[in-house]
Amino acid sequence: MSDRTAVEKRDPRAIGRCGSQAGRRNAPTPSLARPAAADGAAIWRLVRAAGTLEPNSAYAYMLLGAHFSATSIVARRGEEVAGFVWAYLLPDRPDTLFVWQVGVAESSRGHGFGAAMLDGILRRPSCAGARFLEATVTPTNDASTALFRSFARRRDAPIALSTAFDASQFPDPQHETEMLVRIGPFHPISQIGSNPKEDTT
Ligand SMILES: CC(C)(COP(=O)(O)OP(=O)(O)OC[C@H]1O[C@@H](n2cnc3c(N)ncnc32)[C@H](O)[C@@H]1OP(=O)(O)O)[C@@H](O)C(=O)NCCC(=O)NCCS
Repeated sequence: MSDRTAVEKRDPRAIGRCGSQAGRRNAPTPSLARPAAADGAAIWRLVRAAGTLEPNSAYAYMLLGAHFSATSIVARRGEEVAGFVWAYLLPDRPDTLFVWQVGVAESSRGHGFGAAMLDGILRRPSCAGARFLEATVTPTNDASTALFRSFARRRDAPIALSTAFDASQFPDPQHETEMLVRIGPFHPISQIGSNPKEDTT
């Protein structure tokens, strides 16, 4: 099943609020948590399986889990890692959460996991000062662009696109231009009434 098919089949009103609406009664509910270094291997495998994501080394993912867990997140279905977001507050602009990489396992796409993970990070005290979200997307990545457009809509926030890294800057000739997506300013996400809740243990 393609991403598109999965998206068209679901109840669009329920996106980002996993499992809470009538039309989502049978939708899987992820448990959200901070990633640990030990999650690096599973995320490395998920990235390779996803196909469309640029793979980084397992070591890089372990380091991110060790150093950036306060602003990153994993979604689990049972014991399995079903999705992740690596993100950090920009060192020179700490009001901006930069989303470096987001991925959801193919079998879990179209159920609001991506949206729930973005909201989950921004709901944390560590991101209480975040008013902007940035990421880069390639022009052909419709799912990624849709994820960020949906986030902007839900936050009722402006979204702007500009060139971040032109294709000519990359050493590999196949690499597409990376477009900067900047969303905000947006209001802080309430820490109350979230669904699913993050496991803070
Ligand atoms: C991009 C990705 C993380 C989205 O995760 P997801 O859990 O399926 O997304 P959600 O279910 O939370 O959907 C969020 C929004 O994006 C939209 N969307 C998701 N996938 C889409 C697709 N393939 N085509 C069009 N819209 C899509 C949804 O409709 C929803 O918008 P809405 O609220 O207006 O209905 C997932 O498709 C993925 O892992 N893709 C491969 C990896 C990748 O390309 N990552 C991004 C680059 S770093």
